[in-house]
Order: sequence, then C-alpha cells, then structure tokens
Amino acid sequence: MEMKPQDGRRSPPHREVPPVVGLLLAMAVMNGLLYLCLDRFFIAPRRSALDPQHCPYGHFRMGQMNNCSAWLSCEELRTEVRQLKRVGEGAVKRVFLSEWKERKVALSRLTSLEMKDDFLHGLQMLKSLQSKHVVTLLGFCEDDNTILTEYHPLGSLSSLEATLNLSKYQAVNTWQQRLQLAMDYVGIIHYLHHSPLGTRVMCDSNDLPKTLSQYLLTSNFSIVVNDLDALPLVNHSAGALVKCGHRELHGDFVAPEQLWPYGEDVPFRDDLMPSYDEKIDIWKIPDVSSFLLGHVEGSDMVRFHLFDIHKACKSQTPAERPTAQAILDTYQKVLNSLRDTVTSQTREML
Ligand SMILES: Nc1ncnc2c1ncn2[C@@H]1O[C@H](COP(=O)(O)OP(=O)(O)OP(=O)(O)O)[C@@H](O)[C@H]1O
Ligand SMILES: [Mg+2]
Repeated sequence: MEMKPQDGRRSPPHREVPPVVGLLLAMAVMNGLLYLCLDRFFIAPRRSALDPQHCPYGHFRMGQMNNCSAWLSCEELRTEVRQLKRVGEGAVKRVFLSEWKERKVALSRLTSLEMKDDFLHGLQMLKSLQSKHVVTLLGFCEDDNTILTEYHPLGSLSSLEATLNLSKYQAVNTWQQRLQLAMDYVGIIHYLHHSPLGTRVMCDSNDLPKTLSQYLLTSNFSIVVNDLDALPLVNHSAGALVKCGHRELHGDFVAPEQLWPYGEDVPFRDDLMPSYDEKIDIWKIPDVSSFLLGHVEGSDMVRFHLFDIHKACKSQTPAERPTAQAILDTYQKVLNSLRDTVTSQTREML
C-alpha cells in the first residue's frame, strides 16, 4: 500500500549545491583563515624580558645546556679549549673561534701588555654585567690574559648588511626585524645607563664602524654587546663625569661636547678638555639606528616616524636629549602602530 503524504506536503527534495556557492564558501573559509593567521605573519615573536639563560654569579649556560656551569678556570681553559682560527681583532684583543666540549666558543687573547688595564676593565665589566644584553662569559684566566665567551657565528654588526643580504636570511631582512634590532641596541644603551655598576658610558665608539664592531648579532637575530673595555662611570650626584680617551676627537659621529671647544688656534690639552656624561651615547643613537634600519621596503617609513625623537637626540644641549628609555618607548609605539597599519591594509586587500 502506498502511503499518502499526510498534509499534501512532501519532504523537500535533496538539492545539489551549485558549484559557484561552494566556491564562494571555500573562499570565505580561506579568507577567514588568512585573517586569523595574519598576526603570525606580521608580528615578530616577542622576546621575553627575562633572560632564559640566567645563572647565579660565576656560572653560565649557553645553547642547549640544561644546567649552569661554573666559569672555566685557567687550568680548564688551558686543557679543554682548542683554538681553531682567528675571527676578529681589535686594539685590545685577538679573537679565535675555538672548541670546548664539542661546542664553538670564542677565545680572546690580549694583543699587547700595554692594553692590559683595558683588558682587565673589560673582564670586570663582563663579569658584573652578565645579562641578556651582554655576551655570555664562559671563563677567563688573568695569568694567561685570556677570556672565553659564547661564539656568535654571525659576527659583529659590522657585517650585518652582508649577512642580511644572504638569500637564506631574506625572510628576516624586513623593516620590522630591523626596527627590533634598533630596539635591542637602545635596550643595551639603557641597560648600561642603569647597570648594576651605575651609569656606564660606551666610550669605545668614536665612529660608526668602531661602534658596530662592539656588538654581535646572535643566531636568533638579536644583539648583544661584546666589548666592554671602555665603560667609565658617571656619578651625577658626586659630580663625576667622564672623558673617552685622552686624545682629541673629530667628526660629527661623536657628540659636540666631545670635541675640543677652544678652536684650532689653541692646541689640544687633555687636562683642559671638559668632561661629559652618558648623553654622548644618546647623540649616537640615530646614526646607529639608521644603519640598522638599512634600505629595505619600509625602512624610510620607519625613519620618517622616528624623525622627531632622533632630532631630539641630536640636541646640542646634552640635558635636552631624551633618555634611552624614552627612545625605546617611542620605537615600541612606532613598531606597534606601523604593524597595525600594515596588518589592516593587508586585511582590506583580502
Ligand atoms: N664572541 C664572539 N663571537 C664572534 N665574534 C666575536 C666574538 N667576540 C669578538 N668577536 C669578533 O672580534 C672582533 C673584535 O672583538 P673586540 O671588539 O672584543 O676586540 P677589541 O680588541 O676589544 O676591540 P677594540 O679595538 O674595539 O678595543 C669583534 O668585532 C668581532 O668581529
Ligand atoms: Mg672592540
């Protein structure tokens, strides 16, 4: 017997979805996914303010080491470290890529006994300023004039451009990453100005190439300071200011107060040269940051947004220059706002 439909209505027939609707649905899902993923593309991974490698004084940890190890002694340096090849040299140290327990390390040797005071000052600073901003100290031997530090294969900031131009690093050669490097750099200056050893001035920085050679690029594209051989102390409350070296300085990379103020007719005399404070580091920030920003798509847009703060850094009056913290805050704001703009522009395009 055939069943009659009860109220004359029939159950709706099974209709096929037209292909165009399917396509539209797929596109909508894809757009949604892309939208959700955008932040991943445009926001560089945040770096923790805490140093994940943190160890008690006199100890270190690097790479994948699980535990902190005590700084290597003279004996351990002599027997366990194998010197491989020279990777750098400055006025104070000759630096060798070396091997310790199958790990790559950097062994610095004093170049000449005349520089021993600077070498020991640098070592003292390295010991006391260990943090995420400073290269990791692994050991030292004052008798042999050696210092062992973590090796950074990407070298100093002097080779930043060459490194970022390599095809394997194209993905990180962006204005976002470069602005982040500038923030690392200013973060180091801020750390030195508020260090556990008081207000320290980065004196080994009389021109741009010299300044860049004091910082290393880590394998995860952050910056650590490596050379702390000239970090005099400013003590404002005691009226103690500093001088970077005993010779006359020239050029506009150094701050104006570092130049001989009495004209060409008066011969330079160190004892007549006025001293100055940490604001000489602030004067140099625009030049270093501009180098770090480089010339990739977006670099000029960032430079434009940093124009006012950089202009303030170049104030002739040191006290009118901003603090490193104020510069960091501005860099962070610019990074956030430009990132938001780029993200929303890209969302609109989708
Ligand atoms: N840990 C490291 N990993 C990789 N390269 C390093 C390391 N330490 C130093 N170098 C290289 O060696 C160079 C010289 O090092 P450093 O600046 O400490 O020497 P210096 O004699 O104190 O220099 P200066 O002439 O500025 O006083 C650095 O610019 C860098 O290229
Ligand atoms: Mg150096």
